[in-house]
Amino acid sequence: MKIKHCDDLNTLVSLSKRRGFVFQSSEIYGGLASCWDYGPLGSLMKLNVKRAWWNAMTRRKDIVGIDAAILMHPMVWKASGHVDGFSDPLVDCKSCKTRFRADNTDSYINEKKCPNCGSKDLSEERNFNLMFKTHMGPLEDTGSVVYLRPETAQGHFVNFQNCQQSSRYKIPFGIAAIGKSFRNEITPGNFIFRTREFEQMEMQYFVKPGTDAEYFNQWKEIRMNFYTKYGIKKENIKFKDHDKLAHYAKAAVDVEYKFPMGYSELEGIHNRSDFDLSQHSKFSGKNLEYFDEANKEKYIPYVIETAVGCDRLFLAFLCDAYREEITADAEGKEDVRVVLGLHPEIAPYKVAILPLSKKEELSSIAEKLRDDLAMDFDVTYDEAQSIGKRYRRQDEAGTPFCVTVDFDTINDQAVTVRHRDTMVQERIAMSQLSSYIAGKLKSF
Ligand code: GAP
Repeated sequence: MKIKHCDDLNTLVSLSKRRGFVFQSSEIYGGLASCWDYGPLGSLMKLNVKRAWWNAMTRRKDIVGIDAAILMHPMVWKASGHVDGFSDPLVDCKSCKTRFRADNTDSYINEKKCPNCGSKDLSEERNFNLMFKTHMGPLEDTGSVVYLRPETAQGHFVNFQNCQQSSRYKIPFGIAAIGKSFRNEITPGNFIFRTREFEQMEMQYFVKPGTDAEYFNQWKEIRMNFYTKYGIKKENIKFKDHDKLAHYAKAAVDVEYKFPMGYSELEGIHNRSDFDLSQHSKFSGKNLEYFDEANKEKYIPYVIETAVGCDRLFLAFLCDAYREEITADAEGKEDVRVVLGLHPEIAPYKVAILPLSKKEELSSIAEKLRDDLAMDFDVTYDEAQSIGKRYRRQDEAGTPFCVTVDFDTINDQAVTVRHRDTMVQERIAMSQLSSYIAGKLKSF
């Protein structure tokens, strides 16, 4: 058997549309550039991605969760540096009207040429702020400007004292959040890799100055273990140190994943020093120092940040899980089985119930089994077409277990469980099925 892995994002775009993972936003109106909707399978899978991250963070004894508002006081973005510094250098081609970033376009950097038509008739570089602006209240004047947050992290900083005092946690401790962020990217693209509306999963770990380097290294290891635990292949993921540090960072590393377009950032791990809390202290006039009772000392904590895009991780999981198993029969005729070998916790459905026939005597058993299992797992039900075709549909959806209800079930009260990866089949008593599946899921 030959195995082919995903080497082209278009393969995933079409699988996503076909199976209901991701659809182009507003498709019936021709779509809206770089905006995507998660479909029946995609929305389930995205919840699983978020749950995996959320549990990995907030089930620790030293991390609390928050859910902060998207709209924040405009001074937040002054203090954070986003109003003055969150911009990309932009150039317009006067010939073909292409707009591109000056700092990462090779033809421009090397030859001052348009990447699209090659023209040298270009505008001056100008800075383009990536924050989306809107107005709060009925008046659209300068006093009513608010921003859609470009990162969730500022919600953690402005709630640092609220969280510390209400939870009574001592440093070191962390705050985690999942939420939408918005950036008016100049060059979005590569499917859901870079979009203008996306979801972030960020954690800020507050530590005593001087211990920051140690925690920075700890978090690198913790985050890498998270990815391999959920099945990302070790050979597809690596760290990359930043060549240039952001204004707030003392140290920074990216976790890069080998997407079909090449190694690209999946997560950022940053030592943000005391930059953010100091800035918010200065701009708000509130003292954000922490009082260490044991040592009777006050300080502004340093922050180790882990920041990953949920959509980007969703894409990495799809890329990593996708495989085509190619076999040939005696005459050399090829058969291709497309499988999403997703970790069961990430897979949209854990179980598919497939009655062998649509006859009432089987569907009544199968439907009851579906309802019973749905109390414990995400379950799907499919009775259309041949059993072979139905298995293939579930393989493409990443469903780890298919359960077939056949005519023997009526007498022996047992079903056939077929495993996605090995295609091995086992006969299991219906009364044992839920605990059997729970046990298998745990063992992954
Ligand atoms: N608070 C730090 C911060 O926001 P970042 O490196 O700008 O750091 C963190 O973003 C993560 O958010 C990135 O590693 C990426 O996974 C995700 N992300 C950033 N911009 C994105 C975009 N336009 N579309 C999708 N995901 C994005």
